[in-house]
Amino acid sequence: MIETGLLNSQTATEKPDAETARRLEALALSYQRICVVGLGYVGLPTALLFAMNGYAVQGVDVSERVLDNIAQSRVGEVYPELGGWWAEVKDKASFSASRQAEPADVFLITVPTPVHTMEKTCDLSMVRTATESILPVIRKNNLVILESTVPPGTTRRLLKPLIEEHTGLKVGEDIFLCFSPERVLPGNTTHELIYNHRVIGGTTPAAAILGKALLGRVMKGDLFITDDVTAEFCKLAENTYRDVNIALANELSILADEYGVPMAEARELINMHPRVNLLKPGIGVGGHCIAVDPWFFVEASPINTRLIATSRKVNDRMPDYTVQKILRELKGIVKPRICLVGLSYKPDVGDTRESPAMRIVELLQEQGLDVVTYDPLLEEYQGQTLLDAADGADYLGILVNHTVVQQMLDSSRQEIENVMRTPMIRVF
Ligand SMILES: NC(=O)c1ccc[n+]([C@@H]2O[C@H](COP(=O)([O-])OP(=O)(O)OC[C@H]3O[C@@H](n4cnc5c(N)ncnc54)[C@H](O)[C@@H]3O)[C@@H](O)[C@H]2O)c1
Repeated sequence: MIETGLLNSQTATEKPDAETARRLEALALSYQRICVVGLGYVGLPTALLFAMNGYAVQGVDVSERVLDNIAQSRVGEVYPELGGWWAEVKDKASFSASRQAEPADVFLITVPTPVHTMEKTCDLSMVRTATESILPVIRKNNLVILESTVPPGTTRRLLKPLIEEHTGLKVGEDIFLCFSPERVLPGNTTHELIYNHRVIGGTTPAAAILGKALLGRVMKGDLFITDDVTAEFCKLAENTYRDVNIALANELSILADEYGVPMAEARELINMHPRVNLLKPGIGVGGHCIAVDPWFFVEASPINTRLIATSRKVNDRMPDYTVQKILRELKGIVKPRICLVGLSYKPDVGDTRESPAMRIVELLQEQGLDVVTYDPLLEEYQGQTLLDAADGADYLGILVNHTVVQQMLDSSRQEIENVMRTPMIRVF
């Protein structure tokens, strides 16, 4: 049993009396100043969304690069999907970014929560420092919402005591504290941030109601309230669901290879079953969420997470398996030149965190092989084409098939084959 000292969801969703409900509604309406701590994939669009809706927003980040990108108005270059929102906000006084948090009505915390590489345990240090950074400016009646993905229990075990011990304010009486996880899909953030359904977990019923009232002013999806631990649990469960299902698809694709069965065709046939939806197998799972978050469950309860831990291992093994596959296909070619395309962790994003494609490149280079790489979505390859990258190669492996890469391949396949030494092309 994982001890969380639960406030159960019934308690958290209890209806307040009419007077309390009116007071909370009035408080939510009075909120004008929002401080967003951590201006990355989640924090920056969230900050811009509030700013577009008339709130006075201060973004806080510890990274000079992030602050500089904002000061130099490079948001649209760094996050192409945010270009439109940035254009709306940049000339208004409603958004500013700096290193130090200033007093506000609401604080949103959106900093990273990676795993320690070797131990596979959650690194909460940035959540802790981000929380500490707002303590000097927190005031009575403020609302604090943690959005970073965290192990269940973190909001009440880490944030609540930090706030209470350092400010003398009591969570539940003076300060409202929630956990509300983000579900956006990078590449579709601007739509999903507004329209996704969302869970808001309060450390008290009033906090959940207040969180819902605030987020409901800028978000149009359905907002469901519960307690903080349930909300934290749901977020981990969602990403674990994805990871386990991808692992099943990957394991079946390995079996299909062993049987000599074409997996793409088999998958189409399998999914004709009315109650089966087998996901697409791939070269592994990357990014800062699905490849990371299931470990938080494993850390908390190693004995009861055998399926989750095994799935993580199955997915982590896929780059290795892909390398073996590439080497088999290259058998007989002396000193092959391998061109690998698509280095991000998934199609149509330029984010390489935990990328299985990068791991594949590393593994092949460790074996002393001649590997050329290309990814049109990464800054360092700007100005190059797929044709340049494939020139003289014996193998063109499309590891991550960005739409733009598929377009290049469709329009210039013959030319690409002509410049290759051996015209072997595989799309993974
Ligand atoms: N990216 C997604 O699609 C996504 C989706 C759902 C949930 N999440 C979760 O949201 C959280 C944030 O993820 P992200 O992708 O936005 O991360 P990110 O790395 O893109 O951005 C986080 C930002 O926080 C800043 N930061 C770190 N410590 C700080 C501190 N003490 N004070 C101020 N700023 C600080 C970093 O400099 C960085 O700019 C993570 O817990 C992640 O798991 C992310």
